[in-house]
Amino acid sequence: MLLGALASLPLSLVGGPLDDPQKLTPENEMGPFYKKGAPASSMLRPAGAPGFGLEVKGRVHNTRGDLVEGVEIEVWQADHDGHYDLKGHNYRARLVLPRTAEYDFQSVMPGHYPDRVAQHIHYIVRAPGHKALVTQLYFGTDPVFLGDPAKNFAKDPLVRNPDLIRPVTLLDENKVARALVQFDIVLERA
Ligand SMILES: [Fe+2]
Repeated sequence: MLLGALASLPLSLVGGPLDDPQKLTPENEMGPFYKKGAPASSMLRPAGAPGFGLEVKGRVHNTRGDLVEGVEIEVWQADHDGHYDLKGHNYRARLVLPRTAEYDFQSVMPGHYPDRVAQHIHYIVRAPGHKALVTQLYFGTDPVFLGDPAKNFAKDPLVRNPDLIRPVTLLDENKVARALVQFDIVLERA
């Protein structure tokens, strides 16, 4: 069903891309479901778990346009059905970035859940010499945005800045469709 919903939307959806590498990434709420101790892994999806495959990747700069060294990112999200794992650490990960300041993780598109309007993935980004950033990633294909995230971002009252809504590219690999999202992050120096 999700695949159908995604396939019915144009692939060129744009949600205010972070084209300027020196434009500070907006903050967004931490939410109630953060949990310490996430595993150092780029695979958030447990083996065999249902959902539409998702890869998220990006790079971390600071507002001077420099790549940031020593970045650690924690990500957490709801599963395909909109549930957070509060007992274990499924759909949670800690990413330690190399000197290229690039990150990449595999997951599924997060489900909607009752207390939130839009699909999202939570982020905490930390690096020496920089202010920690708490934010959330949203998806241009989310039906909540009615195909026009720049206009309809406030359908979720927590989305105050459309820059956090990213375009979704659909890939077809050996007849298996999955989504790819680029989410570059810009930190402020401390
Ligand atoms: Fe959440």
